[in-house]
Amino acid sequence: MDSVTLDDTQAKGAQRAIPDADHAVANRTHGFDNARLRKDFADQGAFLYLDDFLAPEVTAQLVASARGLLGEVNRNYLPGHKQGGSVSRHTIDRLAPFIAELYRSEELIGWLEQLSGDKLMVSPADDPHAYALYYYTRSGDHIGWHYDTSYYDGRRYTLLLGVIDESTCRLDYELHTRDDSKPDEPGSVQIPPGGLVFFDGDKLRHRISPMGENEMRVSLTFEYVTDPNMRPWKRVISNMKDAIAYFGFRQVFRQLMKKNGDAA
Ligand SMILES: [Fe+2]
Repeated sequence: MDSVTLDDTQAKGAQRAIPDADHAVANRTHGFDNARLRKDFADQGAFLYLDDFLAPEVTAQLVASARGLLGEVNRNYLPGHKQGGSVSRHTIDRLAPFIAELYRSEELIGWLEQLSGDKLMVSPADDPHAYALYYYTRSGDHIGWHYDTSYYDGRRYTLLLGVIDESTCRLDYELHTRDDSKPDEPGSVQIPPGGLVFFDGDKLRHRISPMGENEMRVSLTFEYVTDPNMRPWKRVISNMKDAIAYFGFRQVFRQLMKKNGDAA
């Protein structure tokens, strides 16, 4: 194969290729029927699925980042509940800052506020779930039925974006499980790259079904809250859960020690 070298113009073009998160989101959301989407979200008990949300250049950037971070994945195995890998916000901040920019996009947050009817805030700096990549790379990788429980004083919303899906994994869910006035309503979606799921973490019972042989799936989740305060005892539970089930003790507690001024 011929070797290719970039001249200055091409190099500048390559730099410019990283999309502007706000523009990319606005270009998509301004074309949606947002009144209908808001109604769908409410009717489904604070849940929405869209198979085509992100602009193609944003999806491409996320795919490149997800592949580039494969060496940073922290694997976890909780028998009977969870098997898979993740990359926390702290690693994303160092190595894939575009994802952090997308997370903080005012256009994105404003659109999610329209859907939810809530004023949304980004999660505190020491929350590793604020934005994280979840990797399913081995046969059997999955996460069992659960809620994205809020340990905060307010609500916790999850935005799940499809990044890579070369898998048979499905997001299985049940709507209205916490609403006695409506029957439970099961559903199942396979989220293609660029698709989204947005929900109130305490309302949607959900799981990711186990992955087959020689498959791969990566999703990106953003967490937004309505009140970033957390009672100290809930903080302890939340940190332990993150250390054991997701990101590892080093990731979680190194950040805490930094925050508290300890040298680690
Ligand atoms: Fe979840």
